[in-house]
Amino acid sequence: MKKMLISPSLLAADFARLGEELEAVRAAGADMLHLDVMDGVFVPNISLGMPVIAALRKASPLFFDVHIMIVDPARYIDALAKAGADGVTFHLEAADDPGAVIRAIKGQGMKAGLTLKPGTPVERLLPWLPELDLALVMSVEPGFGGQSFMPEMMDKVSAIRREADRLGLSDLLIQVDGGVGRKTAAACGAAGANCLVAGSAIFGKEDYAAETEAIRAAALAAC
Ligand code: DX5
Ligand code: ZN
Repeated sequence: MKKMLISPSLLAADFARLGEELEAVRAAGADMLHLDVMDGVFVPNISLGMPVIAALRKASPLFFDVHIMIVDPARYIDALAKAGADGVTFHLEAADDPGAVIRAIKGQGMKAGLTLKPGTPVERLLPWLPELDLALVMSVEPGFGGQSFMPEMMDKVSAIRREADRLGLSDLLIQVDGGVGRKTAAACGAAGANCLVAGSAIFGKEDYAAETEAIRAAALAAC
């Protein structure tokens, strides 16, 4: 039976009620929680950082899937581990030595993820797959929630799926982030993704469980 993990993106949550929002997505069947850390330099927005992650850590048992959109990611790996991250996904474009960042993440006992902006060719990510726990394909320009899904990015997902299968990397998570919802989840599943980030498609909606399951079902039906 195929799995389709759902990682709701906190960026779309009500920031005045974060603890309640975490509990609501957990109860709705979320498999992880996606936390977007932005520095205002790598992307033109600033979101949340270590103090917020540390506070939320005390409030939730969910796997914290932290997506860092920051320059020089190596500087913050230890602090992210200390704050309570379970996995850290960083940008290829932000790191001079991606291998060193992957080793630092794993050295802290966390899962290592690597991602790339829509304009960066997937060929730059493929050589790292054997060292990764997660490969993330951005289906929007990173920086903001609520943007439109870029279907052409699914070619990158297919390329990662093919390479992962060729290498026998059966545990690799292939995640898609940006504009994922009921209508776009099928394209992700069809291309070979097994983990979907969804922000505005879940938070703020009437029924988080219904949205979570609709996204999961649509993606699985297309696998
Ligand atoms: C964008 C972030 C995404 C974003 C997704 O830079 O990486 O995680 O929150 O939000 P939606 O699902 O609303 O596109
Ligand atoms: Zn993200």
